Amino acid sequence: MTRLPTASIANIARHDGQTVTLAGWVANKTEKGKLIFIRLRDGSGVIQCVVFKKSVAEEVFAAAQQLTQESACRITGAVRADERAPGGYELDVSDVEIVHLAPEYPIQPKEHGVEFLMEHRHLWVRSTKQHALLRIRAEVIAAAQEWLNEQGFVRFDTPILTPVAAEGTSNLFATEYFDLGDAYLAQTGQLYVEAGMMSFGKVYCFGPTFRAEKSKTRRHLTEFWMIEPEVAFATHADNLVLQENFVSAIVERCLERRMEDLKALERDTAALERCQPPFPRITYDDALRLIEQHQGEVEGATPIPWGEDFGAPHETLIASQFDKPVFVEKYPSAVKAFYMEPDPQRPEVALCADLLAPEGYGEIIGGSQRIHDAGLLERRIREHGLNVEDYQWYLDLRRYGTVPHSGFGMGIERLTAWIAGTHHIRETIPFPRMLYRIYP
Ligand code: 4AD
Ligand code: MG
Repeated sequence: MTRLPTASIANIARHDGQTVTLAGWVANKTEKGKLIFIRLRDGSGVIQCVVFKKSVAEEVFAAAQQLTQESACRITGAVRADERAPGGYELDVSDVEIVHLAPEYPIQPKEHGVEFLMEHRHLWVRSTKQHALLRIRAEVIAAAQEWLNEQGFVRFDTPILTPVAAEGTSNLFATEYFDLGDAYLAQTGQLYVEAGMMSFGKVYCFGPTFRAEKSKTRRHLTEFWMIEPEVAFATHADNLVLQENFVSAIVERCLERRMEDLKALERDTAALERCQPPFPRITYDDALRLIEQHQGEVEGATPIPWGEDFGAPHETLIASQFDKPVFVEKYPSAVKAFYMEPDPQRPEVALCADLLAPEGYGEIIGGSQRIHDAGLLERRIREHGLNVEDYQWYLDLRRYGTVPHSGFGMGIERLTAWIAGTHHIRETIPFPRMLYRIYP
């Protein structure tokens, strides 16, 4: 006989009036004399199971009494529609089988500090809000990939162990690579995905990326997941259109399919509903003026001289002036990566943009048109103090059939944090890696 359940809680409506066996864990339990209420969760949802002493065998009632929080069990009963029940259905229990009786569970229905919860992350992922958040994360990933696939993009996987830096040398994780010296964990798949772009036209890579950043902000992880599309013949302007359509499609799909989870997180979805193309575009220079005009409105967002990069407070201030994500384009080349195409009208700025999320969630996308001229790219590599020999393969992409092209990288956790309305990015990934955390 199968040990699998005969129904899932998410699909319980299909079984109205039938007797089913559910399998899962006890979210909580209350006893009222002859009645025991078990809130059972099976991963797909939560349902209240009612055990009435007079309707079950003695040993069944005794088993239900024994159940503790997070015990695993199989519960059989009749599905009954009940307007007052949270999911609209209850289970009239006829049988309870204990699979594993859990001792006292560390996470109780009370306030625990975030440090304690992080230390128990392996258990915390079972909690309602964490469950909702990670569901939204999964939806974001599925939506992003499926949308790109439908648009004719080909997934092109890029290596995680890499010989050189791609996004600056100050935040590399190094590891010994046999007799070949140091290898570095990828900060981005971009350089490699550009090779794929020259083969397939439209590609994306998707995987974990690493930054040894000593920042403790609520927006930084040392290991995060990035999806990076790259398109041949696309200009900077084309790149922005692709980004706004991409982000809007992902947000829309979360609104369609994850409303329950957004509700569990008490997310104000109005901000998400407004997320429709086109997104406003301002230049870096415009942004400097905004910061001047609104200084004092966000703590730490003090005016900066031309040529300096924004800090998190500046991004918050800029984004607060708009009610949907905003592109800040044409940053000074000096604060950006070596591969960005200069603006022909104004070579000291790059044909790049950061997409800033509303409500203080910061940069969710960084992208640019890429330098496609081999000579210029080589000069930039030198100017950035990098070793040209290491980048010969990358320069080859400009030697054989080079074309203008553009792409971007979207951080899954940043986007998830904004969509879910979660203050700190650490809860948007199952096991966050941060400056002071590598356990569990
Ligand atoms: O702006 P970044 O550094 O861009 C790149 O890596 C480009 N090579 C991407 C490309 O053009 N293909 O990073 C892109 C995005 C950011 O906008 C942000 O969403 C996310 O990656 N990100 C981080 N997320 C969490 N923690 C960090 N430490 C992050 N650093 C970047
Ligand atoms: Mg960036």
